Amino acid sequence: MKIAAGGLARVAQAFVTRRVPVYAHWGITHRCNLTCKMCGIWRYGNRKEELSLPEVQQMAQRLGRLGVVQLAIGGGEPFASDILEEAAKCFVDAGMNVRLLTNGVGVGPERIQKAVDYGVRAFSISLDSLYPARFDYICEMDGSWDAAVRTMTVVSKLLGGTDALPTINCVVSNLNLEELPDIVRFAREIGFHVSFLPVELLADAKAGVRNWEARFIRYRPELGLSTTERPEQVRARIDTAYDTIIQMKREGWPILNSTPYLEASRLYLKTGRFPAEGCDAGRLYFSVAPNGQFSICHRTVHQHLHILDPNFEEYFHSAEYERKRLMEAGDCEGCMRACWIDTSYMFRTLEGFFETARTAGLPQRRKIGDWETANRWARREDAPIVPEAAAG
Ligand SMILES: C[S@@+](CC[C@H](N)C(=O)[O-])C[C@H]1O[C@@H](n2cnc3c(N)ncnc32)[C@H](O)[C@@H]1O
Ligand code: SF4
Ligand code: SF4
Repeated sequence: MKIAAGGLARVAQAFVTRRVPVYAHWGITHRCNLTCKMCGIWRYGNRKEELSLPEVQQMAQRLGRLGVVQLAIGGGEPFASDILEEAAKCFVDAGMNVRLLTNGVGVGPERIQKAVDYGVRAFSISLDSLYPARFDYICEMDGSWDAAVRTMTVVSKLLGGTDALPTINCVVSNLNLEELPDIVRFAREIGFHVSFLPVELLADAKAGVRNWEARFIRYRPELGLSTTERPEQVRARIDTAYDTIIQMKREGWPILNSTPYLEASRLYLKTGRFPAEGCDAGRLYFSVAPNGQFSICHRTVHQHLHILDPNFEEYFHSAEYERKRLMEAGDCEGCMRACWIDTSYMFRTLEGFFETARTAGLPQRRKIGDWETANRWARREDAPIVPEAAAG
């Protein structure tokens, strides 16, 4: 993926100082057209609390001055916002690489085309299964698999032959553990990479909200791996899946996560423990909510100035901010979000830097996946929603 010269200088500076926010996430809206089983974000959607286009423009200029190189626009579902493409253009014009994180469902080709025309080169589209019935069950909407995969083929066609890095976001759970290698094979067939993210669930139906982000996840035991009565068998399933995809990554299959992240995911799924290393939230990356509230990452409590506050830039560089940031990150129990952990890994170790550069930076000869090719991978047989291996 091409990064402008100014961006490369900031990446180099971040590698030396770990004090440049090279990556930011903005949830443009919490509204969503789906109600996925593990996600609760859609419950907080409120159009009235979202930023207007002139406010977005102001924010884009501010993020550019702060040194952001890559901006991920997620949500909720970003395409639920009418101003998504224009908003994305504000960040492109301010010199950033923009990635859209979307479910791809109900997104017409004309909106993808418009986003590309406005300079978006990166799309992450969610897909958790090659069984349409299983994926539709997770998304709670019939036809989600077909719609998401059709959008992937539109992206594949529009960005094929470029240095873009279209990606499948796949949440690893009890329902798809045996499918991971085939999801990677499918991705390569349609010219995508895969990013695997272990599912995070509330511990029980009445679990208290232990942090900000816990509002956004749900209690769904059928997706969970750690609450089983047969822990040995589950650990073996996790090992088989992760041994295979780590080996595939070594062999050059299109897997975006770093090897340490995949190992950390394996451990998290087996034990519920987060990686022990410190994190760089608030320095290498930060997060902005739909209403413009700044936070050091997606899940800490907000105690900071609003992104549009006239004093924000001064505040961001102040000792007061650094003190609060360190306290928040230090108090945090950890997380498994790939974007955060892999950014830290990339900037904390030479190995991480070169592994990421090799994956993201080398020119790729991508296949262009059309619907006929993609649809051949759909397992439309009458498979159970809970796979046999999980049922015992
Ligand atoms: C919150 S969504 C926002 C973007 C868009 N709506 C989508 O689904 O791709 C971003 C990613 O978070 C994942 N996600 C949602 N709930 C999760 C959970 N409880 N644990 C892990 N990942 C989750 C989604 O599957 C998706 O890949
Ligand atoms: S995971 Fe994405 S698509 Fe699914 S409900 Fe959450 S925000 Fe919506
Ligand atoms: S470890 Fe904690 S502070 Fe760091 S990114 Fe994850 S949730 Fe945020």
